[in-house]
Amino acid sequence: MKKKAQYLLLLLASITLGSCSPELSPPENQAGRAPVAKVVADEGPEVPQQRTMQNPTVNASGNFSKNAGVSFSRVNVSGPYIALTFDDGPHPSLTPRLLNILKSKNVKATFYLVGKNVDAYPGIVRRAVAEGHELGNHSYTHRLYSKMSMAGMESEITKTNDSIVRAAGVRPRTLRPPYGGMTQKQRTYIHDKYGMPCIIWQVDPLDWKRPGASVVKSRIVNETTSGAIILAHDIHEGTVDAMAGTIDTLLAQGYKFVTVSQLISLGSRSTAAR
Ligand code: NI
Repeated sequence: MKKKAQYLLLLLASITLGSCSPELSPPENQAGRAPVAKVVADEGPEVPQQRTMQNPTVNASGNFSKNAGVSFSRVNVSGPYIALTFDDGPHPSLTPRLLNILKSKNVKATFYLVGKNVDAYPGIVRRAVAEGHELGNHSYTHRLYSKMSMAGMESEITKTNDSIVRAAGVRPRTLRPPYGGMTQKQRTYIHDKYGMPCIIWQVDPLDWKRPGASVVKSRIVNETTSGAIILAHDIHEGTVDAMAGTIDTLLAQGYKFVTVSQLISLGSRSTAAR
């Protein structure tokens, strides 16, 4: 307190002496007023921090009917619902960082997991489930299904389902083939046998080419419409860097984030594609 008194005295002295110190007496202000205002501002209440935008909680069931459809790249919905999806993880550092961002904004996403990564980082998979995210199947070794035998593809899918159940106690309801490559025959076979629809995407920011966070964000924001399934990869730093701003912009535009299964449940039957 003694130092502050000395400072005020010095301040008064400098005003009286007509000091030209730019710190104490900005030229645009009347001498004698600006420095006092500065002291008051220093001691005033802190400006409240801007609140993080929050995604509204959508209470939609993820238990869609088996008749809903075999494949989706988007869903016809009557509200501003969109689904954000992340492929190829979990990644040991980027996925936890992404989970922090999603948590701060109450956004529930869908993770299309690679089975061998699930086996390597089961704790991250458990965390994703605990925080309300949905898990999907993205193969065990990330091979192109359309070039594989039916048995080979089925083995990739069942092995990954088993890994996810082992890690987090939940069974994926949907799958996404690596590179989006799955024949219609394969899609129908898996859907008939496991009830898992094949999820492609409407919005693709090509983030795997690492164009930088601002490009990832602008591509997603520009291409998203209601019912969109948005593709991204949580194994690229630029993608994770883009997410806070991307989510804030889409929330400001009125979109509501749901998981893929919720989006399908919210959709009209006419969406179903076979
Ligand atoms: Ni992939």
